[in-house]
Amino acid sequence: MTRVFNFGAGPAMLPTAVMEKAQQEFLNYAGMGASVIEISHRSKEFDEIINAADALLVELANIPENYKILYVHGGAQMQFSAIPLNLIGRCPSHKAAYVESGNFAKLANKEAARFGDVDIVASSEDSNYDRIPEIDPAAISEEHSYLHITSNNTIYGTRFQQFPDVGSVPLVADMTSEFLSRTLEIEKFGVIFAGLQKNLGPAGLALVIIREDLLEHALPDTPNLLKYKTYADKHSLANTNNTFAIYMMKLVLEWLKEQGGVAALEAQNAVKSKLLYDLIDQSDFYTGTAQVDHRSTMNVTFNLANNDLLDDFLSQALAKGLYALKGHRNVGGVRASIYNAMPLEGCEALAAFMQEFASNNS
Ligand SMILES: Cc1ncc(COP(=O)(O)O)c(C=O)c1O
Repeated sequence: MTRVFNFGAGPAMLPTAVMEKAQQEFLNYAGMGASVIEISHRSKEFDEIINAADALLVELANIPENYKILYVHGGAQMQFSAIPLNLIGRCPSHKAAYVESGNFAKLANKEAARFGDVDIVASSEDSNYDRIPEIDPAAISEEHSYLHITSNNTIYGTRFQQFPDVGSVPLVADMTSEFLSRTLEIEKFGVIFAGLQKNLGPAGLALVIIREDLLEHALPDTPNLLKYKTYADKHSLANTNNTFAIYMMKLVLEWLKEQGGVAALEAQNAVKSKLLYDLIDQSDFYTGTAQVDHRSTMNVTFNLANNDLLDDFLSQALAKGLYALKGHRNVGGVRASIYNAMPLEGCEALAAFMQEFASNNS
């Protein structure tokens, strides 16, 4: 069987070793004669899985003791609702600050506006989100219940190289497309959330890491299963959770540990993205769409100088096993999503193809 290099933005490539392990034990988990998707979320065996996932996260992401790890239904966009529902009531003003650095950031602030007042404190919409906008610290005040950022902008290929220091205002980060791809100081954040489907596992579930003191501010009408405290109090098992996604994430975390942990992956991600960015910068044939100092190591976005060649580029790439390279419609061109699971060989194969395509069409 031939597998492609999958450059899709998400659901994205998972490590082959992880899927082989899942396949191997799918019909008969831990000698039970039943699949992991058939056993109770309250069984001893599933308890071991969720505890192992927690412990691996604490170890790999260096999560301090005063943070809770939650597995929340509904993927990342559901958190666009859950964040204001749980946090906008922290200050009597019911005001929150949002940085608009892309499409998902915009969806997040629109959703928050249902529950309180939203201040867009910085935006790069004027240049089609080709950069992380500069944040004026004076725009954020103690009246803001939190500041929301999208740390890596999947569609536009930009990321925060440094994170803003907002003093006592909790920093909330949507890290869907980069969590565990770079080392972090978790203490700098009030909440980090990430849909699983890029670096962590299957779609439909979100990982939420929240400082304990922030669990107490939910608006009175918050639905029980959108309330972070419900998840914190019941170890994310107030109802039947997505046991398969949690199991898959545990396997991905074990794999990540075997690779040497987050710092090792961060170094590898720098090498992988540099390979593509160097090629783009050295050629007249390709142009990067994100400003150089704002580039993501997870989503590499670029255009062909002659856009008429785009369809040929994509179809010839596919014929070589380089799958799902089409850019998002808001940007056009090409997007190579190179999350943790993309091996260096995938980026080398793409770089070789890009060189060959440029020389055949120049
Ligand atoms: C940064 C970011 N936030 C949120 C989402 C939405 O995730 P979901 O489809 O899980 O709701 C995505 C999806 O690609 C994303 O890249």
